[in-house]
Amino acid sequence: MLELTVEAPAKINLHLEVLGLRGDGFHELAMVMQTIDLRDELRLLPSADGAISLSCDQPGLPTDGSNLIVKAAELLKVRAALPELGARITLFKRIPVGAGLAGGSSDAAAALVGLNALWGLGFSAAELQGMAARLGSDVPFCLPGGTQLCFGRGERLEALAPAGGTSPALLLIKHAGTSVSTPWAYGRCREQRGRSYLRGEEAFERRREALRRGPLVQALRQGAALPPLRNDLQAVVEPELPSVQEGLALLRRLPGSLAVAMSGSGPSLFALFADRELALAAQADLGPELEAAGFSSWACGFRGQGVMLEP
Ligand code: C5P
Repeated sequence: MLELTVEAPAKINLHLEVLGLRGDGFHELAMVMQTIDLRDELRLLPSADGAISLSCDQPGLPTDGSNLIVKAAELLKVRAALPELGARITLFKRIPVGAGLAGGSSDAAAALVGLNALWGLGFSAAELQGMAARLGSDVPFCLPGGTQLCFGRGERLEALAPAGGTSPALLLIKHAGTSVSTPWAYGRCREQRGRSYLRGEEAFERRREALRRGPLVQALRQGAALPPLRNDLQAVVEPELPSVQEGLALLRRLPGSLAVAMSGSGPSLFALFADRELALAAQADLGPELEAAGFSSWACGFRGQGVMLEP
């Protein structure tokens, strides 16, 4: 029977700016997101019983209707008006959960692409983008991936063509005993900064334009030296989580790193390097201290594409 495999890569935020609040209660954001080559894998088998079943190699991860993969499958069935469609899905989980790396969102994006192909539904990329936005704020980015400016809740994408040549690499770390709830992080941000949030489309657009024309985007386009990275949620999360403070202090000690920041709502942290060899050397240097402090670590490269069907 035909089995399909889909890769679901993680992302990091090279920029996360909270602009203000939207009418729908979500935050209006201006971000630069980057796909990296740490990835989950989904294997899909068709079934004729109308059931969606999910199993995962990581015990404890919910595999019921609360999992975004199952929600993505059910949404596709409703849109196709074909309730008889079924699939057996196996998730091989490599991206840490609750880490600010969009692991769950990328799995959902992979389910949309994979099941669209498996069931021969023929939905267009634009139609899949629409479904992705219903599933979660980071899911639309995970479909094309690469390097993108992301506005709105995260679903308004503007692709950014990075400079040719060697792309940066990163040492990514995540404290094993720590995870962050995204609603909590945004809630704390609103409590602390809500009174100074920007208001109105004109003010939002000025900040979007500042990001498009600003030093980070220019540096990514030209392969030039990166400016310090901005993540507004880091200012909220860092004071509350000692493990984030400790991880940042460890990464900042690394010689030759181009920038250090938290990804998304955390708690994963990263240091950027000019190439993968330098990221691997940093991992080897810092490995024992990271391990002693309870951090897992990955040396990763940037990746130019989001979810991908394996040939
Ligand atoms: O869309 P997603 O499910 O990832 O969002 C999780 C939660 O994060 C939302 O319920 C909301 O509390 C917060 N959020 C937000 N503004 C965004 C994205 C997420 O306030 N742009």
